[in-house]
Amino acid sequence: MTTGFYDGNVFLYPCAGMDIVQPISAFGLQFDTMLFVDLGYQFDSGFHLPKIDGWKELNESVLIEGPKYSSVKIFQRGKHFRKEIEPAWRKSLYQHTESGRCINIVFRRGFGQYALQEISDGTLGMFLHRGDSQGEGGSRVCYLSNRKMKHAPLSNLLNTIKSKLAMPGLIGSDGSNTSINELYRAGNENDKLTEFTQHGLHWRRRKTLVRPDDRRLTVVWQVTAANSSNEFSGKSKTSMGDLKHEPR
Ligand SMILES: C[S@@+](CC[C@H](N)C(=O)[O-])C[C@H]1O[C@@H](n2cnc3c(N)ncnc32)[C@H](O)[C@@H]1O
Repeated sequence: MTTGFYDGNVFLYPCAGMDIVQPISAFGLQFDTMLFVDLGYQFDSGFHLPKIDGWKELNESVLIEGPKYSSVKIFQRGKHFRKEIEPAWRKSLYQHTESGRCINIVFRRGFGQYALQEISDGTLGMFLHRGDSQGEGGSRVCYLSNRKMKHAPLSNLLNTIKSKLAMPGLIGSDGSNTSINELYRAGNENDKLTEFTQHGLHWRRRKTLVRPDDRRLTVVWQVTAANSSNEFSGKSKTSMGDLKHEPR
């Protein structure tokens, strides 16, 4: 897959699972492409999309690229191991019934870190990451952090997000898997934090999303480049511990 596959202003949600309805309802009208990424997506007959009020999928628009089914394979050498999966994309058009506006919805099977690399610089309108963890069942991937990994595409993901963002951009987080203390606080305590500066960005609170069975809040921040004196100086006090796994 080459860069440029994703049209226009892109929304990206890695490790999304089937958390699709609220993001499309809340943000669908703002983007040309909404990209959901997860290792678990399989595009065989068992792939069923939830109904999204106010939107309909144009059936004849569905395109699938890559194998319909693949699962993660783990290769181990000594204490190092890497994971591999065959990527695939399911792309279709969704129409907003009231306005008639059509957007691309893409489900990408694979590692979110690679999906991020596929986005052209300056075209990422919104990055969303929530409901994830460092524990069992979570991805253990810290997107909103600059963690160094052996394999360059997996490293410094926050810097990569910054290079992909169309400024001013939007970043949504519930504080999961981040080294930015303010995101953690805002997601967990509703402490009314309205703005802060971290990692060369100025973050202004724009929207708060609540999910019925989730004690955490998803806070959407508008980010702009901060004064150059703060560039890349932001360090958070929140420590998430080191990853044991090295996904590829
Ligand atoms: C805890 S679930 C969260 C799902 C969703 N964010 C939510 O809030 O409902 C984590 C998801 O991340 C997926 N996952 C794990 N590692 C991943 C990676 N490196 N890239 C993409 N998805 C990954 C898993 O398959 C799983 O669906």
